[in-house]
Order: sequence, then C-alpha cells, then structure tokens
Amino acid sequence: MDYNTLAHGGRLVNRLSSAPATHSLQPDQFATAITVDTWTLSDIDCIAIGAFSPLTGFLGERDYTSVVERMRLADGTVWPIPITLAVDERYESLELGAKVVLRGEDGIDYAVLTVESIYRPDKKIEALHVYRTTDAEHPGVHKLYDRPPLYLGGPIDVLQRPKPALFADYYYTPQQTREIFKAKGWKTVVGFQTRNPVHRAHEYIQKVALETVDGLFLNPLVGETKSDDVPAAVRMESYTVLLEHYYPTERVFLAAFPAAMRYAGPREAVLHAIVRKNYGCTHFIVGRDHAGVGSYYGTYDAQHIFAEFAPEEIGIALLFFEHSFYCTKCLAMATTKTCPHDVKAHLTLSGTKVRELLRSGHVPPPEFTRPEVAQILIKGMREKTAVES
Ligand code: ADX
Repeated sequence: MDYNTLAHGGRLVNRLSSAPATHSLQPDQFATAITVDTWTLSDIDCIAIGAFSPLTGFLGERDYTSVVERMRLADGTVWPIPITLAVDERYESLELGAKVVLRGEDGIDYAVLTVESIYRPDKKIEALHVYRTTDAEHPGVHKLYDRPPLYLGGPIDVLQRPKPALFADYYYTPQQTREIFKAKGWKTVVGFQTRNPVHRAHEYIQKVALETVDGLFLNPLVGETKSDDVPAAVRMESYTVLLEHYYPTERVFLAAFPAAMRYAGPREAVLHAIVRKNYGCTHFIVGRDHAGVGSYYGTYDAQHIFAEFAPEEIGIALLFFEHSFYCTKCLAMATTKTCPHDVKAHLTLSGTKVRELLRSGHVPPPEFTRPEVAQILIKGMREKTAVES
C-alpha cells in the first residue's frame, strides 16, 4: 500500500531540507532573521514533518480568510484552524518573494520562509469563528490577542527540527509512524489525542476502541499548554507506567505530538483528527468536550462539528464516545449508553478536584486513576509546587 495516498490533501508533506527533494539552504545567505517563540516553533515542526499536511508553510491571506470563515483552504480542502506566523510591524515592509530566516529564542536558525503574503488579521473575527468567543479569558483567544499584529504567509524549508528538551525517544515523523504501523501488521489504528494524564475514563474509551481495531496510537500533545495543565514531562512518565502495567505492549504505540494546545474545542477536534490521519491512523477518538476549556463549548460540540463535512473530506473514521465514568452499581466503567443506574452511582471527579487531591498528596480512588499513575502525578505536583514557590 502507498501510505502517501492516505495523507490529508493527498500527499504527505516533508519540508525538512534534508529531504531528497530540497536543495541545501545556508541561513547566512539571508538578510532578515525573525525570532520566533516556542509556540511558532512547534508549528514549524508540525509543518516540517507533515503532521500538518497538506500545509507547506504558514497560511497566506487567501487561505487564512477561507480557513477562518469556512474551515477550508482556498482550494476547498478541509482545514479548521489557521496556522499563522505572527510578527511585529517592523516586517510590514518586507518584499514579497523575500526569504527570511526563522530563528528560535535559543539563537538557532530553524527554517527559511519565502514570504508570499503579508497581512493584518482581524483578530476579533478570527477569535469568534475559530474559538466561538472573543473573551480574552479563553486561553486560546488570550494567546491570539497576545501575539504580534501582522501575519506572514508562505512556504517554509526547515533546516533542523527543534530538539525536544525531553523525551526525544518519543518523537517520530508521520512517515516513520506509518512504517511502524505497517511493520506491526496493523491495518486499522485508532489515534488518541490527550493533554491530560490517562485516567480510567480515557483508558476505557481507548480500550473499547481497541476491541475493534488492530492498534492504539497514544499520541499526547506535548507542545505549549496552559500553566495549570499537568506538565508534559510528568504526563509522559505516567503514560509509560500505565502502558507497562495495563496495556498489551504489542497493541499500543506511544509517540509525542509536538503541537501547541489551542483549546479551540470543536475546530481543534477536526485538526486533531486530520493530524492523526497524517500519522497513519484509520480511526480517531472524540469523547466528551474534546480540546475544550471551561464552559465555552457544549459537551458534544466537538462531535457535532464533523456533520458539517462529508466523511471522505475528513478521511478518517471517527469514534465518538459519551461521557464515561465508573459506576459503583455496575462495578465497571460505563457511559449512559451502557449503564442504567442513577448518577449518584457514578464516580466522576472534576479536573480541579483531582488537582486538589493530588496537590495535597491524596491518591484519587483507583476507579478514577490507576494507583501507579496517581503516584507519579502526586510526585509531579510536588515538584511543580516546589519550583513555583
Ligand atoms: S483534550 O483537550 O486533549 O481533548 P483530554 O486529554 O482530557 O483533553 O481528552 C482526551 C480525549 O478523551 C478527548 O477525545 C476527550 O473528549 C476524551 N475524554 C476525556 N475525558 C472523558 C470522559 N470522562 N468520557 C469520555 N471521553 C473523555
């Protein structure tokens, strides 16, 4: 099978300048260098490796407007979230066609952008369409407003991938994950996005899905998240322990997803699905309030949004799950689809409550979190509090 045919938009993108098709670029050839933050670097990385296929760079104005207003690139391909390079006024006078270096805050030159578009977005409109709110308290909207006012669009050639500070062993390109799935003999693979530790509810929906497919691709997002989310390093440790104790090794593959979290709920669910298709998954899980935050989105909005597209436009089978919990009468994990008992019998804990428990060193009930995972989270919380105080 030609795995390239399964990528979104038809072809798996590779913008690494080590790729056979690209010529070698020398950053010192270029006059302008723009320093970019870690959020932008994570976008550069996702474009470089083809996780964001078919994007070959940052959106120009035509694609941007089309994505914001109708969740499609200008050519009609479904794309829900604008991937943009925000820069300050200084760069307004750049010439179209100019090549500029994108430099990390660490002084390393990561990519060369060919400037094809320079434009000033209306951020309120972007917020309203993409996040369904203009409220600056929303972490994604806050970030959007906080970024510089101009956007540069154009293809990028990536000189080197940002070196992961942590868990380098879990970084794979979509080309590699496709080859790995193939080598494992998996014909069907379900992708799972998470920015949280895997609690019993997550484990339940993963395993229910795994009953019907060949493999599970556990693909935690490790880019920028809001400060009260559990740090990626702690999560990564919790995933490895969980897999070691509770999952059959030959059925699960764990890899980091380098993107930043937008908290855009429904639209981000569409992005997450497309990205996992690019990594080679055939199925993708969307549960309760996927990529949501606070009460900005309805519990199942991130499932309903997929009805706006024809299935072949998304190109990955979606597995929707209801809110799951442990039922003290069923003595099992369940959802309202499978459990007849009153909510009083259902064990559910809010994220805030769990964080409170962990911070005070209390182990959440095993029906909520596996004890091995809880120990790691308590240790992680303790270390985080020590660093912050
Ligand atoms: S997310 O922001 O990455 O979506 P999280 O890591 O909490 O957050 O969720 C990962 C996936 O599990 C999402 O698809 C989410 O909808 C789903 N999920 C989380 N908790 C539950 C639950 N209790 N019941 C059903 N699905 C859930």
